[in-house]
Amino acid sequence: MCGIVGYVGSEPALPILIGGLRRLEYRGYDSAGVAYLEGGGLSVVKRKGRLQRLEEALQRQYGEDLSGGSVRIGIAHTRWATHGAPSDENSHPHLSASGRIAVVHNGIIENYMELRASLSGLGYAFVSETDTEVVAHLIERHYDADAKKDLLSAVLRTMGEIEGSYALGVLCADDPGTFVAARKDSPLVVGLGTNGNFIASDIPAILSRTREVLILEDREAACLRADGVRVVDALGRPVDRAPMHVDWDVEAAEKGGYEHFMMKEMHEEPRAVRDTLAPRLRDGAIRLDAITIDAADAAAISKVQIIACGTAYHAGVVAKYAIERLARIPVEVDVASEFRYRDPLVDARTLAVVISQSGETLDTMAAMREAKRRGARTLAIVNVVGSSIAREADDVLYTMAGPEIAVASTKAYNTQLAAVYLLAFRLAALRGLLDEAACAGWSERLLALPEALDRILADRSVLQRFAAEHFNARSVFFIGRGLDYALSMEGSLKLKEISYIHSEAYAGGELKHGTIALIEEGTLVVCPLTQAPLLEKMIGNIREVKARGAVVLGIATDSCAKVDEVCDAVFRIPDVDPLLAPVLAVTPMQLFAYYVAVNKGCDVDKPRNLAKSVTVE
Ligand code: M6R
Repeated sequence: MCGIVGYVGSEPALPILIGGLRRLEYRGYDSAGVAYLEGGGLSVVKRKGRLQRLEEALQRQYGEDLSGGSVRIGIAHTRWATHGAPSDENSHPHLSASGRIAVVHNGIIENYMELRASLSGLGYAFVSETDTEVVAHLIERHYDADAKKDLLSAVLRTMGEIEGSYALGVLCADDPGTFVAARKDSPLVVGLGTNGNFIASDIPAILSRTREVLILEDREAACLRADGVRVVDALGRPVDRAPMHVDWDVEAAEKGGYEHFMMKEMHEEPRAVRDTLAPRLRDGAIRLDAITIDAADAAAISKVQIIACGTAYHAGVVAKYAIERLARIPVEVDVASEFRYRDPLVDARTLAVVISQSGETLDTMAAMREAKRRGARTLAIVNVVGSSIAREADDVLYTMAGPEIAVASTKAYNTQLAAVYLLAFRLAALRGLLDEAACAGWSERLLALPEALDRILADRSVLQRFAAEHFNARSVFFIGRGLDYALSMEGSLKLKEISYIHSEAYAGGELKHGTIALIEEGTLVVCPLTQAPLLEKMIGNIREVKARGAVVLGIATDSCAKVDEVCDAVFRIPDVDPLLAPVLAVTPMQLFAYYVAVNKGCDVDKPRNLAKSVTVE
């Protein structure tokens, strides 16, 4: 997601802050900003666009190397837009009403709408569309009400009011020697240096300055001064934690200590799914405030047309099952490059749902324009705020995966599924097919997904071992029924794109119409087995391929004992409603593909012949 750097010490702060942001550039961002104290005053400089623009603005005042002046304390930020488009106003740091407190924030404040409404009622004016601005105002409210004027206490009180994920850096004009940091569900480390102390959302930002770091835990805060750091828990009690010595090089640090971005990004799935779901599932209701479709619109939709490419297309296939089952609207799914040229039946009663991680895929964009030209209303499920597809769609539902660097899409898919379910539930509710109690039930089941993903990732060594035994396979088949078939398409794509092993996804019932001829002694078959009503049929299909010599890896829920006797190995995922199972069951497939590719010595993050964003036809 976004990047944070902070410093207080005896050295010029601006070169440290801008240098730190530079180290985080690889993650992608759309704007950058800095807040610092000098001569008793708080200054904020922020710019939409490249870090270079911010640096140039500062250079005009502080010289080429930014070391002019007497700035010794500051907080800085690179923003990856979530709430509000990339702009100077929406960039961080954000200021409190009096302009005395500046805040940088990574993460998502889930209850910011409620907080914003109540602060507005108290007369606070907002200058940005962000969720972060409420934090600056809340901190100032608590600070002003405190006779001792203690910034750390004001931050702790604010932490008690905000819900969601956050890493915060907070600077106050009243105390030029201190700043405060805090975190929950968003990473933040404190760096301990000889000439001062630091905060960073990612270790690479401060690695050239120190290798001694304190990892802040959830709901902890830290008060940083040039000569020391004090860490406290949510109740303000001191936390005594030994620093950790980081011996990673910069490249390893960028990957969070993982060997590849792909592995790092898979480990971000629980956070990404939570950030996509939780702000929209409040008090058991599904709130898609940014979507303007009302009950009359929903009733008038005669067809949903889904358009996407690659992984996003596979998310679209899951969407077909979900929307048809819940909202009872016919759904067609097309790969964008086919849709554009097939003279599709689309009209004003069609809702065209366009799915894209980057929001820049040319085929998807052109297909969306074609759907619009034919009168369809367009809704984009996109990861990059302000991307071309997001700008042109009538409505946008953002996934909150954060930047994805590995070419093979992982966390983006899990979050696309999360968004697709939200849309399906919303359409069903608008069409009167889902009452409040049912919404609350689904909301609870959706919110349990991140924790289940945590367990799957923790159990990954099972897949590592299986992949080590089978990475020499010449061909792998992914077979499933219903949503497991939709999921198999993504499992197969993941394996082929990073391991270069030929792979196909097949519907279980379709095998006997031809493909079973390819099954021979030792052929590897991967079967997601999460659809209880179709389980007996799938067991029949597994017996068919086993009878011809196949080796079968099953991916099944904890309570699905039956499959042990037909599979050679079974990877277990937590019990989950079959409708939601793809969000969980894809992760073992991603892990399997990853370990196969690593065993084969493939370039996992940059597979041959592929680009992250396909902006040509
Ligand atoms: O950015 P988009 O979601 O529009 O990209 C679509 C495909 O190019 C993308 O999903 C591609 O298939 C990935 N390499 C899959 O891992």
